[in-house]
Amino acid sequence: MTGKEKGAPTEEVFPKLTRDVIDRMSRAKSGRLQEVMEIVIRHLHAIVREAKITQGEWWQAIDFLTRAGKMCSDNRQEFILLSDILGISMLVDAVDHIGGPGLSESTVLGPFYAGQQRELAAGASILLREEESAPLEMRGRVTDSRGRPIANAFVEVWQTAPNQLYDVQDENQPEGHLRGSFRTDDAGAYRFRTIMPVSYPIPNDGPAGQLLAAMGRHPFRPAHIHFMISAPGYRTLVTHLFLDGDEYLESDAVFGVKPSLIIRPRPIAGINTVEYDFGLADEREPTRAQVEDLRRQRR
Ligand code: BEZ
Ligand code: FE
Repeated sequence: MTGKEKGAPTEEVFPKLTRDVIDRMSRAKSGRLQEVMEIVIRHLHAIVREAKITQGEWWQAIDFLTRAGKMCSDNRQEFILLSDILGISMLVDAVDHIGGPGLSESTVLGPFYAGQQRELAAGASILLREEESAPLEMRGRVTDSRGRPIANAFVEVWQTAPNQLYDVQDENQPEGHLRGSFRTDDAGAYRFRTIMPVSYPIPNDGPAGQLLAAMGRHPFRPAHIHFMISAPGYRTLVTHLFLDGDEYLESDAVFGVKPSLIIRPRPIAGINTVEYDFGLADEREPTRAQVEDLRRQRR
């Protein structure tokens, strides 16, 4: 069988090949794997047909992925960056997400979560050294969708230093600087001290950065603080809070901004303060994808 049949429109080239590749999975070990791989194969083959990919372009793509793989290490995850800049991370989040009244919106995890950090007392600072930045007090409550407090929720936070780097990217910062974990009290309240976050470029010295530049895009993220909030019986919430007024709010390199996550600090007793409540979803609630599946099965 030849690749291009003479005169056939490109979108119809070699349809038997796609069917053969899919049919060859009939003894797949997992039904879910088979289901997902069938979709992946159909779409990848459709890309090649629709974009009329040349041999040279395919080698360029293989070389790109090879370089992305070689860039990965314990401190660098180029494939997360690629997923982020192409909007895939936000799409997976939207599909595998529980939304609704009383629930906080989620956003990307990003590559700079560094595992659980030291647990600090309510009101403590997450800084391990002084920084020349305006202080910020963050406080609020963690509740369920009906506003009932969740006591003892685990609130993990992390952000960049004013030099636009996370501690894990910068050997001059003490390990754990601008990171910390807190527990909510009986009223579901959390509180900590930090500094005003700054906007920063995502790592752009590798293939993801080259692709961004080639697509004519900038690498900046608007200033934000990361949160990961977990409690038994609830879905873990991964999100950030973004500073209002940041010049990159409309063009976040990873498409992570949602209006409900924008905060406006206001001075209370002379210190910039944000009060923000988080609503966690019950872990038994179905995600958007599960609801659609159920609907399909009932049809
Ligand atoms: C971050 O906010 O830490 C981040 C998210 C996606 C890509 C790079 C960094
Ligand atoms: Fe970040």
